[in-house]
Amino acid sequence: MAGEEGAPLGIGVVGGGSIAEWHLGSYAKNPDARIVAVADVDLSRAQARAAQYTALAAELGRDQPPVRAVGSHTELLADPEVEAVSVCTRNDTHASVAVDVLASGRSALVEKPMARTVAEAEAIVAAEAASDGVVQVGYVRRWSPNAQVLKAFADAGDLGEVYYAKATYLRQAGNPGGWFADRSISGGGPLIDVGVHFLDLAWWFMGAPRAVAVSGYTSDRLGNRGNIESLSRWKSADYDVSKNSVEDLAGAVVRFEGGAVLHLDVSYSLHGRPQVGLALFGERGGAELEPELTLFTERHDTITEVVPHVDSRSFDIVPAFQNEIDGFMRAARGLEPSIAPAAHGLEAVRIVTAVYESAAKGTEITL
Ligand SMILES: NC(=O)c1ccc[n+]([C@@H]2O[C@H](COP(=O)([O-])OP(=O)(O)OC[C@H]3O[C@@H](n4cnc5c(N)ncnc54)[C@H](O)[C@@H]3O)[C@@H](O)[C@H]2O)c1
Repeated sequence: MAGEEGAPLGIGVVGGGSIAEWHLGSYAKNPDARIVAVADVDLSRAQARAAQYTALAAELGRDQPPVRAVGSHTELLADPEVEAVSVCTRNDTHASVAVDVLASGRSALVEKPMARTVAEAEAIVAAEAASDGVVQVGYVRRWSPNAQVLKAFADAGDLGEVYYAKATYLRQAGNPGGWFADRSISGGGPLIDVGVHFLDLAWWFMGAPRAVAVSGYTSDRLGNRGNIESLSRWKSADYDVSKNSVEDLAGAVVRFEGGAVLHLDVSYSLHGRPQVGLALFGERGGAELEPELTLFTERHDTITEVVPHVDSRSFDIVPAFQNEIDGFMRAARGLEPSIAPAAHGLEAVRIVTAVYESAAKGTEITL
C-alpha cells in the first residue's frame, strides 16, 4: 500500500514500548505521515501511547483524528487507514508480525535484529518478495549524520577497498534484564542486541561483502552484575536481578569473500572501561566513525587526519531516528529503495547465528 497521492500515509505501530516512542515521535514530525493506531498486547500501554501522540499531534498543529489503541497487530491490520507499519515488538515476534504486515500488502519498518534466527529472517524476505510492501530494517545508526557523511566519503572512493574493520561496543554493567536477558525471547545477549548495530555498520561500510567464515566466542562468567548499585543502568520494565540466560560478552572474527576481515567485540558485563568504536581500514584511507568521525590518509608523503566539521561527530539519536523514519516513508511510498533492506537484515542474522554456533562448538563455521 503506497497510500493516496496528496494525503499523508497512515501509520500503525505494533509494540508500544521504549523504542516505539522514537518511531512515533519521528512520524509525528514527518508531514507525509499520520499516526493512525498503536497496537500492544498490553492494551493499557497502547492506550497510553495513543493518548501521548494524540496530544503531540495537537501540540504540533496537526489536524487529525485521535490515535487509536488496539490489543493486537491483527486488529491494527484490519484498519484500512493503516497503510504502513513499524514493528517495535520484542525480538521473538518480529518475524510473525512482519510477515502478516507484508501479507496485507503493507510496508514494514522492522526493528533490529530483524529476527532471532535465519529461518525467521528468511520468512520475512520471502514474504516481502510476495508482497507489494517493502521492508526496512531498524539500523538507525546508518542514518546518523556522522554515518551519512562517512558513507559519502566511502562511496566517493576515499577509503578504497576496506579490507579490515574493528567494531567494539563494551558495557561494564549494562544488561537491561527482562526479556532482553531471556534467550528464548531475545535470541541472545549483547551480540544480537547492540552488537548487531556495530556488525551491520562495519559490514555496510565494507561494501556488504558475503561472509564466508566465522570464528566466535562468548562468555557468561560475570552474569548480569546485578550486584552493582553504584552505577545506574537502563533496566527493562520487567527487570529481575535473579534472571539471566544470555552471554555477557561475545566476540568474533568474520572473514568475507575477497579476503576482508571484521573483528567484533561486545559486552553487557565486563571488568573494564565502557568503549564504543568503529574503525575501518582501507587501501586508500582509514576512518573512525565512533567514538568521533575522523578520516586518515596520506598527503605529500605525510600521514594526515581529516576532521569533518559536522554538527555531531558521534552517533546522534534524534536526527538519526528522524532520517530513518523519513527514509522509510520514501521507501513505503515507492519513491526510492531503502538503504537498509531485508537482505541486509538477513545477512546480519546469518553472521550472528554463526558466531553463536562457533562459540558453542569451539570451531570456525564456514558459511
Ligand atoms: N534501534 C535501536 O537502537 C533500538 C533500541 C532499543 C530497542 N530496539 C529494539 O526494539 C524492539 C523493542 O524493544 P523495546 O526496548 O521497545 O522493548 P519494550 O519491552 O519496551 O517494548 C516492547 C513492547 O512490545 C509489546 N509486545 C510484545 N509482543 C507483542 C505483540 N505480539 N504484539 C504487540 N505488542 C507486543 C510489549 O507488550 C511491549 O510493550 C526490540 O526488538 C529491540 O531490539 C532497538
